Amino acid sequence: MKQTQAYLMESNEEAFRLELKTDVEAVRKQALWCGVKAGLRVLDLGCGPGKTTEILHSMVSPAGSVVGADYSAERIAYAQEHHGGKPGIEFVQCDLTKPIEGLGLFDVIWVRFVLEYFRKESPEIVKRLRTLLKPGGYLCLIDLDNNCLGHYEMPEPMNTLLPKLMSCIDEEFNFDTYAGRKLYSYLYDQNYENIQVELMAHHLIYGEARQSDVFNWLKKLEIGTGKMHSFFKEYPGGAETFLEDFRKFFLNPRRFTYTPLILCKGMRPYDEGVS
Ligand SMILES: C[S@@+](CC[C@H](N)C(=O)[O-])C[C@H]1O[C@@H](n2cnc3c(N)ncnc32)[C@H](O)[C@@H]1O
Repeated sequence: MKQTQAYLMESNEEAFRLELKTDVEAVRKQALWCGVKAGLRVLDLGCGPGKTTEILHSMVSPAGSVVGADYSAERIAYAQEHHGGKPGIEFVQCDLTKPIEGLGLFDVIWVRFVLEYFRKESPEIVKRLRTLLKPGGYLCLIDLDNNCLGHYEMPEPMNTLLPKLMSCIDEEFNFDTYAGRKLYSYLYDQNYENIQVELMAHHLIYGEARQSDVFNWLKKLEIGTGKMHSFFKEYPGGAETFLEDFRKFFLNPRRFTYTPLILCKGMRPYDEGVS
């Protein structure tokens, strides 16, 4: 499926990266807060390799069901193979930047780590999702804030360069380093009711890093530096040295890294009917 813009993190290891970094207990906790429970019909929009979809499925089963939707044919095929093939779970290919049709109505729409890739279109995407919700259904938006910027004690010049790098990535790739803090306003502007917000720690890394965190962070920066190679002219030794310096920083157990996760949910009002 051709989509309107390229996905920043695209790589032939993306399904694997997402599968590896998805923490089952953390997703469960987030989904419980979002009100996911037995019997509901849930849409996992931008479902990646389907691991989150399977977790949501385990929470709505046996009477409920989940649809995982993603524009990537490769990730949908992976999802079908690794997490599909059971009653109540299906995967479909769709582009969320266009009107989504033919999926029916949902009790919960779960959009995790997706709006951060659509800084300009996010308000419009949120607006359109309303018509996929049952009246009384909840739209749940989950994203990071201060993405990639919560590290101590980074050596100079990395410390100065990283915020500049993120703002260039935002500009060049329509990414949103500060997606999390905007979620509440998106729902507020669309007159969602009973809006609630929660803050959790996504990364909270100190001491020895887990292998999955090392892989995820190095992969994130490898993709970022690969896309912004010329940007590293001002870094002594260039992009390769930057990556090597980050690796050293990250493997040092003195390092502290955190990223806030913001969860925001709002209800589609009952009295507006189904349009
Ligand atoms: C960072 S992953 C998040 C995966 C999953 N939601 C999670 O919480 O782990 C973002 C996903 O959004 C998908 N995506 C990007 N652009 C999209 C679009 N236009 N329509 C649908 N999905 C899209 C990507 O293919 C990718 O799988």
